[in-house]
Amino acid sequence: MAASEAFVQVMSSSFPRFNGCNSSVCNVNGVLSIESATKGRRKRSLACHQGVNASRTTQNGLRVSAVEGTNGVFLRKFDANRSDSTSCKCQPAKSASGIPSEEESKLRFKDEADRPTSLPINGVACSPSIDEHKEKPESNGKLGAAGTIIDKLHDVRANLIEEEAWSLLRASIVYYCNNPIGTIAANDPSSTSTLNYDQVFIRDFIPSGIAFLLKGEYDIVRNFILHTLQLQSWEKTMDCHSPGQGLMPASFKVRTVPLDGDDSATEDVLDPDFGEAAIGRVAPVDSGLWWIILLRAYGKCSGDLSVQERVDVQTGIKMILKLCLADGFDMFPTLLVTDGSCMIDRRMGIHGHPLEIQALFYSALLCAREMLTPEDASADLMRALNNRLVALSFHIREYYWIDMRKLNEIYRYKTEEYSYEAVNKFNIYPDQIPTWLVEFMPGKGGYLIGNLQPAHMDFRFFSLGNLWSIVSSLASQDQSHAILDLIEAKWAELVAEMPFKICYPALEGVEWRIVTGCDPKNTPWSYHNGGSWPTLLWQLTVACIKMNRPEIALKALKVAEKRISSDKWPEYYDTKRGRFVGKQARLFQNWSIAGYLVAKHLLANPSAANILVNEEDSELRNAFSCIINASPRKRRGWKKHSFIV
Ligand code: GLC
Repeated sequence: MAASEAFVQVMSSSFPRFNGCNSSVCNVNGVLSIESATKGRRKRSLACHQGVNASRTTQNGLRVSAVEGTNGVFLRKFDANRSDSTSCKCQPAKSASGIPSEEESKLRFKDEADRPTSLPINGVACSPSIDEHKEKPESNGKLGAAGTIIDKLHDVRANLIEEEAWSLLRASIVYYCNNPIGTIAANDPSSTSTLNYDQVFIRDFIPSGIAFLLKGEYDIVRNFILHTLQLQSWEKTMDCHSPGQGLMPASFKVRTVPLDGDDSATEDVLDPDFGEAAIGRVAPVDSGLWWIILLRAYGKCSGDLSVQERVDVQTGIKMILKLCLADGFDMFPTLLVTDGSCMIDRRMGIHGHPLEIQALFYSALLCAREMLTPEDASADLMRALNNRLVALSFHIREYYWIDMRKLNEIYRYKTEEYSYEAVNKFNIYPDQIPTWLVEFMPGKGGYLIGNLQPAHMDFRFFSLGNLWSIVSSLASQDQSHAILDLIEAKWAELVAEMPFKICYPALEGVEWRIVTGCDPKNTPWSYHNGGSWPTLLWQLTVACIKMNRPEIALKALKVAEKRISSDKWPEYYDTKRGRFVGKQARLFQNWSIAGYLVAKHLLANPSAANILVNEEDSELRNAFSCIINASPRKRRGWKKHSFIV
């Protein structure tokens, strides 16, 4: 394809750092050595004996033990490459060095009185008591007495909600060998079947982890990072087939079981699920990407860089990268995945190159590049990583973007163009433009579509993908503002009575039957099919803060605060306007709770959002504009050349 060839040419000639990717990326030393060290070993769970430092294998050889280190961090015994790594010095750091001071922050609320006041400016102390709030001096002298009382009542109520959220989150902490290592997905006493909601999900723990980081409680996050890392290289099998090494589990469970041969003692066992037990057997592609993002946030927030510098952690990062950067049959720089490989973890027609995965992939690549130590990052790996970053951002910004102008361009597309100069590269037939979109697209604003395949654009608006494209700078500055413009313009569709629609619009009728496979949980405007998920509030908040438009997130937070606690923190809401608690939604869903807490904390201390944001890299920006200039869309006379890769 012309654009990608242009990219290679531009990269090779203008930016020596961006050389063509070659297969040697698969031969990154550390990765291969880990592979050979773990090959042939059958392991299913990680165990730790209560009160003892011991390591053993069960009769069937399926279990590997954890050895308690001096500082309470458990090391895996059998993997020489990992357990002999630099010993962990994971004491919580005293300073939050990654967070600039409030003065440094350029972020401003339109009206400072709008800023939630429950946190001090450093964002790491506990919520103030209600009494403290009562005594707070008036922040806006212009307010009349009635307004003041209503505002105070609102503040008091909001703080009660926050306190409740913290106690619920703490009550859901899971311990492994007496150390906190995560939070279960839901703590719903009214639910008759727990399914796997009693497990620690990697993606669900991210907002919990961020909430703990913002509170200055680093241990749980460090333990989570190190223990999930130990699970990463487990051999996981479904019907004799093993997915690639480097995959992170979707979830894990801690089981306390009697110690073999000793009735008086127990051991804790970590049981990961890589999708081999999950409904639909879906592979969690997003887990490893989120893990990298959390690892960077941990370092930036706690100031403790020793975790990311550990040999086993560096190897873990490289294993994830190796899996994502491996050459395949693909023509696109986007990551090719199956349906249900992310937050939407069941059939919803998002197989191929869904935006959510691309945004997380881009973000994880940037975070990994920041964290890989020079000794660990081979030149080949860095080249492959940089090349992918440029190609990915070009591809998404150019081909996933739609607004009124682009929509009109698609509407007038010529089809069946065989040439390197084709404008309609993916052979999109204009009739594909859905009628709802003609109404939905605002005059001001735009968004990244959900997926792109040959002759197919999935025009649905997927929230997480769009929000994380802003956070990670996968979307350009202009595009990021335009996405927020669209959110403001389409508030009634995307927020209405509960933030935030997971996607818009819902699939209905025949389309629902074919695409979801008649999934009764994914009926129109429910669950993944147009349901409203309060957890998305935190990603919305980070995106709004990054673009210096926190008032949008604050408005959404206030909408959530009206009901979320009295509705018992549901997992999702149903109906077009998000009016009902979801048909099968769990109550006391922890990422709804944590999402609220993160949003609340960040709005009180916007500069703390930096632990999650990836600012646009100037080298990438330069490379990107070179590709744009070389693109046939801009230079119609552009001809195919041979390129040295
Ligand atoms: C549902 C969601 C998934 C989440 C899990 C646990 O399966 O689709 O995204 O991780 O529940 O809450």
